[in-house]
Amino acid sequence: MKENGNVLWILWTIFSVGLCRSLFVDNENPQTSLTAFETSKKCSRVFLSMRSTSGHWAPSCCCESQYLDGSLEATVERAGCLQRAREEEEEDREPEGLRRSSPGSTRSASFMATIVMERIGRLFISLQQIRQVPRMLTEAAPSMPGTVRDTEVPCYFRERYVHAGYRPLEQNWRYYFLSLFQRHNETINVWTHLLAFLVFLAKLRELAETVDFLNDRHSWPLLILVVSSLIYSACSVVAHLLGGKSELYHYCFFFLDYVGVAQYQYGSAVVHFYYAVDETMHGYVRGAFMPVATLLSCLSCFGCCYGKYRCHSLPTTVRKVFQVVPSALAYIWDSSTVAKRLLFWSGDDPAIAYHFGQVAFFLSCAFFFTFPVLERCFPGRCDFLGHSHQIFHVLLSCCTLCQIHASHLDFVTRRGLYSRLHGSGEPALFAGLYAVTLVVCALIAAFVLRKVKQMLDLTAKSK
Ligand SMILES: *[C@@H]1O[C@H](CO)[C@@H](O)[C@H](O)[C@H]1NC(C)=O
Repeated sequence: MKENGNVLWILWTIFSVGLCRSLFVDNENPQTSLTAFETSKKCSRVFLSMRSTSGHWAPSCCCESQYLDGSLEATVERAGCLQRAREEEEEDREPEGLRRSSPGSTRSASFMATIVMERIGRLFISLQQIRQVPRMLTEAAPSMPGTVRDTEVPCYFRERYVHAGYRPLEQNWRYYFLSLFQRHNETINVWTHLLAFLVFLAKLRELAETVDFLNDRHSWPLLILVVSSLIYSACSVVAHLLGGKSELYHYCFFFLDYVGVAQYQYGSAVVHFYYAVDETMHGYVRGAFMPVATLLSCLSCFGCCYGKYRCHSLPTTVRKVFQVVPSALAYIWDSSTVAKRLLFWSGDDPAIAYHFGQVAFFLSCAFFFTFPVLERCFPGRCDFLGHSHQIFHVLLSCCTLCQIHASHLDFVTRRGLYSRLHGSGEPALFAGLYAVTLVVCALIAAFVLRKVKQMLDLTAKSK
């Protein structure tokens, strides 16, 4: 447990350094990070060092120079300096009584002041060294090309109202992986879901301390929800990080993202049906709820992939019908049990606030997903930070967190009800259906991807 925590912390530190770098360093011009400090050939740092003479420690002046190539040279120099050091040594040899005299105490005060100044100087130097870290990272990847404008990428890559910050196509994989630390139009999209992934992972660890996921079958739906949340955030990270490589990979990774979303819909459905349902509603939907949820997940995966595949040849409205209608239907169906609870809520329901939160977050998600409000108001200003897809990512992660929390509360407080409603075989059945959903969605994505490939081959030939 403790080791996991350490690893998480190390990851967290690496990621934060990376994030800071991508926030503050404009990689299009790495030279700007050269400071006067590095170009200076003069003594860049004067410090006092303590030298031992006949058992006493005495200060002496040293000078450290740093040259352009980074090499350091430390010298004890300057006659005045040495003179002062010698005086201090002599002073040390004086008998105890004499040293208490007033000139001595003035001197020790000035010595203290020098030490303080030296500390401040050192702090300043190390701050300057920290400022070099981004440059070192850039140097570690010398082949990182800068980002380009929208006019320099093919039109299917362009995003409305985003003018700059596009990564160039057809670079090697390493470039796209390392672009995690670069400033470009997808940086924030990647980092938001990467942080969400780590938060879900921490949540899973926290849950595992109180919930026995292995032996308690009633906890399996909760586990499915957390695992599906981890999968969708990971898929989204991969899609936004690597989807800019080429047109084929763009489709490939975004289809992966759609598979992630579809299996997360199933994860939501299973907790809503297992823990949130009440007795009357269970009577109506019992046999149908999960099979229909599976079907709708697969349908929305197909709709999203197919809509993307035909995005050049279909009018936007028809495409939206393919992409939005199945997902909306799936959401309405999967959340119907929660909706009923929200409509007929009573005061003694501890999870109701979180259910309300997840629905509110989801509706605002849907809003920002559909309407690019910010970038439309400030076109070209939101290239790096502020486009609505980023807000969508943040809100979706909040929605998932609320949902996990609400489901955990339901899992703890409604045990009597759900263990009575659901037969002992159901958790295993639902886990099996989850696997089926995953496989079928992956097959659907592969099928549409094959069509995409044929289409791309055709256009390449006709050129
Ligand atoms: C960012 O640029 C990539 C190409 O590198 C493009 O595929 C993607 O659509 C752009 N995304 C946004 C949000 O501008």
